[in-house]
Amino acid sequence: MAVSNFSPAASDENSASWSLSNLEMDSEDSKREGHRATVLAIETSCDETAVAVVRGRDVLSSIVSSQIEIHREYGGVVPEVASREHVGAMGEAIARALLASELGWDGIDAIAATCAPGLVGALMVGITAAKTLAMVHSKPFVGVHHLEVHIYASYLSDPDLQPPFLCLLVSGGHTSYVHVRAPGDYVILGKTRDDAAGEAFDKVARLLDLGYPGGPVIDRLTCSGNKQAFSLPEGRISLPEGGYHRYDASFSGLKTAVLRLTDRLKAEALETGGDVPVADVAASFQATVVRALVKRAIACVEDYGLKTVVVGGGVAANSELRSQLQIAAENHNFRVLFPPMKYCTDNAAMIACAAVDNFERGLRSPLTIGARSKLSITDVAELYQ
Ligand code: KG4
Ligand code: ZN
Repeated sequence: MAVSNFSPAASDENSASWSLSNLEMDSEDSKREGHRATVLAIETSCDETAVAVVRGRDVLSSIVSSQIEIHREYGGVVPEVASREHVGAMGEAIARALLASELGWDGIDAIAATCAPGLVGALMVGITAAKTLAMVHSKPFVGVHHLEVHIYASYLSDPDLQPPFLCLLVSGGHTSYVHVRAPGDYVILGKTRDDAAGEAFDKVARLLDLGYPGGPVIDRLTCSGNKQAFSLPEGRISLPEGGYHRYDASFSGLKTAVLRLTDRLKAEALETGGDVPVADVAASFQATVVRALVKRAIACVEDYGLKTVVVGGGVAANSELRSQLQIAAENHNFRVLFPPMKYCTDNAAMIACAAVDNFERGLRSPLTIGARSKLSITDVAELYQ
């Protein structure tokens, strides 16, 4: 397919920044995809307004308008602001995605949108736009679960990926070890009992005055830090019968430990006139989170006899997580798959990819469906009743 006429618009402090990616579909891909469905999908669960067109597992267009610059000044996502920005960006995002796909509405088999979990006001914008398009163009509507799509992002790097496998879901709102037994059949083996891994990155970055979002900043900073500089506690969940939970995690104690450490280092720096070794603190924190995540992934793989681990969610972009999981995979004889970087954080290509599979399995959502701030991935079937 040809590359679209659009180039990303310049972004300034107060406007959303746009990015467009579309992939060349080679003839082998088109042969493999054959008659697979084509879906236009909309993602607005948090602070990215994204629209994509996917045929089978081939991304024909993927548009992301990020609000990060707007929320940065507040140190986190402001839900009301997010909803308003989605409304402003939606029309153009849809138009750009369709144009870049080089398809007309008659080339689209179904319209999809993220329905849960997420910020309700933000979700409503995407759902309303998608349902309106479905009605106007007489297309089926497929609601999608946001965590299921982070699993599907890995299908974009390996279209032949098949369950069973383990998905380590690590985003700003979730940290879960999901046993993917078959499409739509999920069992949560473990999860965080408090903060999500991405949330911990964001909170620690805030207390180190590094800005928002914290994950990418800490990741970059750790290049110049010593990850063995400070020993930090890896949160563990005690069991009533003794010992510790093999898969569940906790990150809030670690965040508190970083806070205490930083306070002490700031006091010392004041006394000596020296600097707080921020890069060392960040590197030690990141190494501790990654150690906790990788250890639990190994336990799941070993206990359930799994051969593949896929990683999904924004924290899947983390360089230390990528390298440590790769090492674990070699040592423990499993395969690890990371989505391409651009599909780690929120985008609509993964929404459309999941929607294609669900659509082809005969799943449709009623036009009466609304947004849900919470919905377990194990209850994803509720979107299709
Ligand atoms: O999946 P995502 O885009 O949104 C949610 O569904 O939550 O994930 C966003 C989260 C943020 O907490 C951000 O700090 C984190 O992913 N993140 C990272 C990295 N890039 C993004 N965390 C660690 N290292 C990174 N390189
Ligand atoms: Zn996400």
